[in-house]
Amino acid sequence: KEAKLWGGRFEESVTDAVERFTESISYDKQLYKQDIMGSRAHASMLAKQGLMSTSDRDSILQGLDEIERRIEDGQFVWRTDREDVHMNIEAALTDMIGEPAKKLHTARSRNDQVLTDFRLWCRDAIDKVVVRIKHLQIALVTLALKNEGLIVPGYTHLQRAQPVLLQHLLLAFVEQLERDAGRLQDCRVRLNFCPLGACALAGTGLPIDRFMTSDALKFTSPLRNSIDAVSDRDFVLEFLSANAITAIHLSRLGEEWVLWASEEFGFITPSDSVSTGSSIMPQKKNPDPMELVRGKSARVIGDLVTLLTLCKGLPLAYNRDLQEDKEPAFDSVKTILGMLEVSAEFAQNITYNRERIRKALPAGHLDATTLADYLVKKGVPFRTSHDIVGRAVALCVSKGCQLQELRLDELRSLDPVFEEDVYDFLGVENAVKKFSSYGSTGSECVANQIDYWVTKLEIK
Ligand code: ARG
Repeated sequence: KEAKLWGGRFEESVTDAVERFTESISYDKQLYKQDIMGSRAHASMLAKQGLMSTSDRDSILQGLDEIERRIEDGQFVWRTDREDVHMNIEAALTDMIGEPAKKLHTARSRNDQVLTDFRLWCRDAIDKVVVRIKHLQIALVTLALKNEGLIVPGYTHLQRAQPVLLQHLLLAFVEQLERDAGRLQDCRVRLNFCPLGACALAGTGLPIDRFMTSDALKFTSPLRNSIDAVSDRDFVLEFLSANAITAIHLSRLGEEWVLWASEEFGFITPSDSVSTGSSIMPQKKNPDPMELVRGKSARVIGDLVTLLTLCKGLPLAYNRDLQEDKEPAFDSVKTILGMLEVSAEFAQNITYNRERIRKALPAGHLDATTLADYLVKKGVPFRTSHDIVGRAVALCVSKGCQLQELRLDELRSLDPVFEEDVYDFLGVENAVKKFSSYGSTGSECVANQIDYWVTKLEIK
């Protein structure tokens, strides 16, 4: 067996079970790019500070280039007995260039190294998620543009409430996604500080320049406190929290579409390209992608909870438990990227069934609140008008008709304030036209929202 890089004080080698149990190379190898980037910055700083010669630095830099090339060509052999990505790369570098490689770990610990890698990885991952969020926003706005003027029932308690423009509804999701992206960007600002040089926990007495490595890696500045630098995981907790919130938004979007695709609603038809069938029921066409978006939100929440639970109760500073921080982060990012991608594809492949929706609109007295507002405009106090319209609805229920089908004398029997102009307020088309408050579903307000997003998202 090869001696461990830390093996000096040990007389026995670890058992196979311990080796298998403690390794992280099987998954942390995906930090290789960040690890190499960090080592390049570190070696350059050590040379500048006189802690290694420039020729040692050059052989290290060349060796790292070669290792990166081999990893990307699939020629690099990852070894479990070398534990993790950091030791695999350092040991391979030693195999390749010999003595100079032994200077690379000067004034560095795996504790600050892994966090440098991980923060760089998260920074990159955030940028990817933000781009996907924007793609979904564009898909939703495009879907809205295709369905201008379409009125749909708005629900509360999943019961018919008031008529709304479909565009208004879709833009509600766009707003949520905008805040999701904002949370990620805030998180990016807070995480972009450099742990490198914190070493094991206490820093070092060697004359390093942490500002130089921080700048080279495009961090804002080095973290102020070396103990904090190697202990903290709140940057990734925050990232996974933001992902969990996004996942919930996508899950609700998924639920909406799954519901609307059912026979009972029948408001949307997803194209075959985003549907799947049943192995037994030949007639089935299921909206599986959005069901899975809903389902996978569970994983993203789980990843956050895993990490929260992992950190709870850990004493400062580094503890090996913290090696368990990577898999939930990798899983959360992979899952949310897939959820965002598939939601955008679904949005591109939905048809709203205008005729079916139009036929469904008369049910549920969606115009009742507009009628109450009509009475308010005539000077009736709202509580009184609520009661009058409530009795009008009861009359409709007993007659099996809609509000607009009540005769003027029937309305007047409830309250003499009704006049002929009441019919301008009844029926969903009329009712939608009456909305005018800022942010409402009135067509002008919605057109303003559409303009805002078309400009902001640069949709042509
Ligand atoms: N693979 C480890 C991790 O991900 C690297 C840090 C190990 N540090 C240590 N002192 N054993 O956390």
